[in-house]
Amino acid sequence: MAQNVTVVDHPLVQHKLTLMRRREASTAEFRKLLREIGLFLGYEALRDLPLGKIDIETPVCPMEAPVLAGKKLTFISVLRAGDGLLGPMLDLVPSARVGQIGLARDEETLQPTKYFFKVPVDTADRLNVVLDPMLATGHSAVRAVQEIKDIGAKDLRFVCLLAAPEGIKTFTDAHPDVPVVTASIDERLNEKAYIVPGLGDAGDRLFGTKGA
Ligand code: URA
Repeated sequence: MAQNVTVVDHPLVQHKLTLMRRREASTAEFRKLLREIGLFLGYEALRDLPLGKIDIETPVCPMEAPVLAGKKLTFISVLRAGDGLLGPMLDLVPSARVGQIGLARDEETLQPTKYFFKVPVDTADRLNVVLDPMLATGHSAVRAVQEIKDIGAKDLRFVCLLAAPEGIKTFTDAHPDVPVVTASIDERLNEKAYIVPGLGDAGDRLFGTKGA
């Protein structure tokens, strides 16, 4: 496995992921499980946040206690499924800024085209965590991270729920400096660039839009 890739193999994550993958999981179940797993993924992606100390008083005595001390954070969702990971990330860091990038996949070339970009301007001073549940071909993830680097970001992480080996390779070749956190690296992509075994279309399952 590429050096910069972490698979969160905690039994709770793996159990919840299995529940989500099931064809019969309802939209409500899927959404709730993504939120729950998102907390674990965020916990792992942010595990090296630097700490400082502040003086506080507990009911028992004064103490020097740890608090977050590093760069401020921006969470950047790759629309639309990335929005499913925003909630849990904001639960972990409520003060974070939020960006969104819209990338549509051209079904013939499988390449992403940008249709929306609204990201806080001070990315250079922040830790930027890019969110997209499915790292399939890797093209959207590579493009999203490149767009954010192009406006100055230097410190990035990429958080996804599932990855295909092909997507991991494409992404880590393009952005070896960006750590990836995922709950699973599945077997492969199929001819339609869906992750196998995967969970289907994450956006449709999250928003209940299958067939729309
Ligand atoms: N996007 C999805 O939503 N699912 C896949 O399997 C691949 C890309």
